[in-house]
Amino acid sequence: MTGGAKARPVSRRHLLTGGALTVGGAVAGAAAGIAATASDRGPSAPVVADPAGATAVGTDVEPFHGRRQAGIATDPQAHAAFVAFSLHSGTDRAALGRLMRLLTDDAARLTQGRAPLADTEPELAVLPARLTITFGFGPGLYVAAGRDERRPASVAELPAFEIDRLRPAWSGGDLLLQICADDPLTVTHAQRMLVKDARPFASVRWVQRGFRRSRGAQAAAHTQRNVLGQLDGTANPWPDSAAFEQAVWIADGPDWLRDGSTLVLRRIRAELETWDRLGRADKELAVGRRLDTGAPLSGQREHDEPDFSALNEGGLPVIPDFAHMTRARVSDDRLKILRRPYNYDGVPDAAGRADSGLIFAAYQADIDRQYLPIQRRLAERDLLNEWITPIGSAVFAIPPGCEPGGWIGEQVLG
Ligand code: HEM
Repeated sequence: MTGGAKARPVSRRHLLTGGALTVGGAVAGAAAGIAATASDRGPSAPVVADPAGATAVGTDVEPFHGRRQAGIATDPQAHAAFVAFSLHSGTDRAALGRLMRLLTDDAARLTQGRAPLADTEPELAVLPARLTITFGFGPGLYVAAGRDERRPASVAELPAFEIDRLRPAWSGGDLLLQICADDPLTVTHAQRMLVKDARPFASVRWVQRGFRRSRGAQAAAHTQRNVLGQLDGTANPWPDSAAFEQAVWIADGPDWLRDGSTLVLRRIRAELETWDRLGRADKELAVGRRLDTGAPLSGQREHDEPDFSALNEGGLPVIPDFAHMTRARVSDDRLKILRRPYNYDGVPDAAGRADSGLIFAAYQADIDRQYLPIQRRLAERDLLNEWITPIGSAVFAIPPGCEPGGWIGEQVLG
C-alpha cells in the first residue's frame, strides 16, 4: 500500500469468477518465487524457489488431490487445529456446494504452498510444512443438504457413556476442518483463510488446537508420547499395510462412501493432579505397558506381542484384566481403529492445576462396527478411567478425496 491508501476488501466470489485472475495471479505471485502448480508436483517436492532460510521441514508438501483425503494416512504432523462449524440456517445444498468449492480451492492451494485467492498475507502461505486440510461432514450437514440418505449410517451422535462429562462447547458440529502441519504459523494462517471464507455459510462452533513432538525431534517412525508420559500409538495398524487399509477406508458402496472414512473426535481431559500422585508401577498397570520402553508388561520391547495369560509369582495376570490395553485389544484387523491423537495443553488454573489432555481422533471405516465396541468396553471397565475424562465428543464422515478440477463433497452434494 502506498500513500496511506486503505486496503479495500476484496470479494472472494468476485475473485473466483473471472476478472480476478490477474489479482489472484498477482497475489500468488507475491508469494515469493512459487515454482509449479499443484498437479505437476510430486509428494515431497520443494514448493518455493528460495524462501530465505527455509529448510525441508518448511517446504515439504503433502499431495492434496487423490481418491482419498490427505491427513489420515499421513504421518502425523506436529501441530493441528480441529475447527468445527455450525451451518447458518438456510445453508442448503446449493450453498454447501459453493462453500465446498471455495474451501477445496483454498486447501488445494495452501497445502501446496500457494496463497489462496485474496490472501491478505500471502507470504504466510509459502512454507506449507506438510500442511494437510481434511474435511469432515457432521450428521447435520446431510440434513441441511437434504441428502441424509448419503450419510454413512454409523455417523450419528455416540450413545452417552457413564464416564462422559461432555460439554457443548467441545461437542458436535456440522462441518469439520482438520488442519495439520509441522509449523504452527502455517496452521494459524490456513485456519484464518478457511474460517474467513466459511463465514457467509457457517459460524465457528469450537476450535481445538493440539500438538505432538516437533518434526525432527525424533525419527519419523517413532511412537509419540502423550501428556501422561505414555508411548501412545504402539498398536495402531501400520501405514500401508492390509490391516490399515481394511480398518480405515470404506471399500465398497456408492461413490459418496467409497474411499471415505469416519472420524470420532473426543476431547479427553487428563487428570494430571491425581495421576502425578500415582506410583510408577501403578501407572504401568493401568495401561498394561511400561512407561520407559512402551513394552507390554509381559515382554521386553515395545512391539513384543503381549501375553495376556502370563502370571506373576502371586498367580495374578502380569497384564491386568482391566488394564486399558487389555480392554481395548482387538485382534481382527477389520475391527481395529486408527488413533491419530494430539495433545492439548491449556492455561493452568489459579492454583496451578493443569488443563491438559488428548484430542483423541479415531478413524475407522464404520463407527458401529469398530469404534463403539471398544468404547463400550472401556466405558464399562478400564483402570485408566480414573485419570481420564471425556469432555467433548463429535462424529464426522470423511468424504472421498477429489481430483484436480473436482471438489471435496461433490459425490454427496453434487
Ligand atoms: C486420554 C485418553 C487415552 C489415553 C491416554 C490412552 C492411552 C493409551 C496407551 C498408552 C495405549 C498403549 C499403547 C498403544 O498401543 O498406543 C493405548 C492403547 C489403545 N487405546 Fe487408548 N488411550 C486413551 C483413550 C482411548 C479411547 C477413547 C479409545 C477407543 C475408544 C482407545 C483405544 C485404544 C486401543 C484400541 C489401543 C490398542 C490396544 C491394543 O491392541 O494393544 N484409547 N491407549
